[in-house]
Amino acid sequence: MTPDPERAPSSPALAGRLLTLTVGMPAAGGTFVARHEGRVVFVRGTAPGETVTVRLLEDPQEQASARFWRAEALDVLEAGVDRVPSVWDEAGVDGVGGAEWAHIALPAQRRIASEVLQELLRRAGVSSFPIEQVQVEPAPHDADGLAWRTRVRYAVDADGRVGMRGWRSHDVRPVGEDPLSAQAVRELRLGEWTAPEGTEAIDAVAPSAGPASVVLIGRDLDPDDVVIPQSWGDADVAVRTSRGMVPLRGDATVHERVGERMFTVGATGFWQSHRRAAELLSEVVESSLRAPRGGSAWDLYGGVGLFSAVAAEQVGRDGSVVSVEGNRRASQLAVQNLEDLPQVSTATADVTDWVRARRGGVDAVVLDPPRSGAGVELMGLLAAAVRQRIVYVSCEPSTLARDLAAIEKKGWRVADLRAFDLFPHTHHIESVAVLERAEG
Ligand SMILES: C[S@@+](CC[C@H](N)C(=O)[O-])C[C@H]1O[C@@H](n2cnc3c(N)ncnc32)[C@H](O)[C@@H]1O
Repeated sequence: MTPDPERAPSSPALAGRLLTLTVGMPAAGGTFVARHEGRVVFVRGTAPGETVTVRLLEDPQEQASARFWRAEALDVLEAGVDRVPSVWDEAGVDGVGGAEWAHIALPAQRRIASEVLQELLRRAGVSSFPIEQVQVEPAPHDADGLAWRTRVRYAVDADGRVGMRGWRSHDVRPVGEDPLSAQAVRELRLGEWTAPEGTEAIDAVAPSAGPASVVLIGRDLDPDDVVIPQSWGDADVAVRTSRGMVPLRGDATVHERVGERMFTVGATGFWQSHRRAAELLSEVVESSLRAPRGGSAWDLYGGVGLFSAVAAEQVGRDGSVVSVEGNRRASQLAVQNLEDLPQVSTATADVTDWVRARRGGVDAVVLDPPRSGAGVELMGLLAAAVRQRIVYVSCEPSTLARDLAAIEKKGWRVADLRAFDLFPHTHHIESVAVLERAEG
């Protein structure tokens, strides 16, 4: 079918939802902005400067009054300078999700992500830091952005075929060679395996110490139906059903080394995904938190204690650190991981509720919330409670921008802001903001 960009939205061509568009600026969510008859169209699967045939995701007749439409690129009529052969054949518009920039050169991905981050900060009104200086940096020794993903969630279809979901889709699609997953995950060859009946998803982990881990997830999965294939080698295996976790080999935990310290993490629990992320972020927090010796610190959204360990070294045995985490299992593991650091205590609680209930202040805070961010209320509470510094680790720049703007209004300033490409070949980035009192 030949698309005709000149036709009006009610035309037959648009009813087939095809258009030819030239795309420009990057937008949030890994898309790029194009215009059709004055209306903004957010296009995925393309790159800056390209002319592409797109399929509209909204019905233009039903959505005639919408401020913008969304579309996906089907054919590249004129490639942009940043386009390269995709690093992952099975990714792309009709392929697996989670590698939406696999067709864009790695340095260009970082340039584009920097532009998106800068624009989000500008729009949120962040004013205390020179925004144009923020550039997304590669993780150390990550030349090609491949083999970085140590946590992989596979989807399983009704016939037991293992793959990954397409973008915003329930379809399970083949993963092929999956160049983004860490070697130990790829070696499991889960894409070639047929999962037992009742398996809904599989979590595979390639930890930095000890064997890999496979957890089969399914409400009604029967652990007796699982026959461990040879290709899994010495990987630990567990089954998670509605009745809980049943280890089949190992104890449903994995082990991560950061510097000299070992952390035990639940096999389906949170740990930074990029193989270099935990070490890199620990170093950045270490150099920026500067919790005073003998002082106090909070590690909010603390997980299994990664940043509490850093804060504990800074405050020393005469100081105090509280790790606040909502997930009970993660909190228990934090206690175990940090048992040699008596200055650390843990609280299993919602972070905002916990901070709201505090009386008295704290010298320094590191927080690492999920994508939804800390929120304006928590930023206000921290603005009042923290005496010296806040280090905000973020995996979602839009909520980071909102939260930085909120705390600036309470008399704080952004003293430093760095961003890291910890999710290569996707549009996601990790940022670390260092906050100080504006008068200080
Ligand atoms: C991005 S992870 C960071 C974990 C840890 N800082 C690390 O680097 O390993 C976010 C953590 O916040 C926890 N969490 C999410 N929402 C929460 C809330 N409202 N209150 C407390 N913890 C929460 C999650 O369970 C998860 O462990």
